[in-house]
Amino acid sequence: MDHPSLMDTVRTSSPTDAASFLRRGQLVAFPTETVYGLGADVFQPEAVESIFEAKGRPADNPLIVHLATLAQVPAVAAEVPTTANRLLEHFSPGPLTLILPKHPDVPSVVTAGLDTVGVRLPRHEAARAFLRACDTPVAAPSANRSGRPSPTTWEAVAEDLDGRIACILQGGRTEAGVESTVLDCTTDPPVVLRPGAVSVEALEGIVGAVRVGDSEGDEAAKSPGTRHRHYAPTARVHLIQEPAEVEQSAAVGYIGLSEPDRKAAFRDCHVVPDVETYARDLFHFFRECDRSGCTMIFAQTVPDDGLGRALNDRLRRAAAR
Ligand code: TXA
Ligand code: MG
Repeated sequence: MDHPSLMDTVRTSSPTDAASFLRRGQLVAFPTETVYGLGADVFQPEAVESIFEAKGRPADNPLIVHLATLAQVPAVAAEVPTTANRLLEHFSPGPLTLILPKHPDVPSVVTAGLDTVGVRLPRHEAARAFLRACDTPVAAPSANRSGRPSPTTWEAVAEDLDGRIACILQGGRTEAGVESTVLDCTTDPPVVLRPGAVSVEALEGIVGAVRVGDSEGDEAAKSPGTRHRHYAPTARVHLIQEPAEVEQSAAVGYIGLSEPDRKAAFRDCHVVPDVETYARDLFHFFRECDRSGCTMIFAQTVPDDGLGRALNDRLRRAAAR
């Protein structure tokens, strides 16, 4: 069995109660503006190791370090290049993760042996209160079982991790629904390793050119997480450009911007008004389709700019087999 011994998972809405579990070396799921994270104290390597066990996460996939304040950056990064400083000033707190040279004190289990570290300051109020109360940098991947859609509600965290983690800090539904943008600032120009809630256009507005990583090439090697199949429901995901491509049968779901014919023929059907809503609802919809027994989900791709780039990336990975 790959199942660690079961424990009672405490639910709380108190950031300080949740932080007391983390300070004792236990795992705590907490809301952020993107998706829920699963946190451990960066400086307790055994606690960090247990994140990989609870999620079933491959050991070669590094974790993002979450901070409450900019003053904590020098504790985890050896150096902050000028471009990174400008980005931190502009987008922090917010859904941007910067890859920086790692401080030697950060245990290698956090960064999967890499000499770089991902750093992010969430802007979600409960996340900030939690991180302040932890009073230590917090390593946290998304709080899902590895490969599953990221959790956008505390109930989705419980669905995947109840009995495997000490505590869930309960918040509402997350706002962005897709994860942070991961930007490698150790190269010039910086490289987007994972498109996310901060658009490439917004980054370019602050630092000029950025390169967008090719998920099949060099950058895939730099960001090990992007190599693995991800974000996927149990149902097969089929990408379409127009709803006319949909084959209807009893156990089929549909999500997209365009209204399909015969909406009622779908088991689950979610027509979204815009790309922001699509991104916010996607993982939630995937989990809903699994619960209702859909075997196939048709998902409409969107124009590949702004937030659409991150959304298409998640759709493509969910559809990959
Ligand atoms: O919005 C988010 O980023 C959420 C919330 C909880 O903050 N976190 C999240 O973590 O999505 P995770 O572990 O699911 O994805 C982190 C991504 C992975 O693709 C990982 O490979 C990459 O960031 N990453 C982390 N540290 C890295 C590093 N030092 N170098 C390159 N890539 C790194
Ligand atoms: Mg993840």
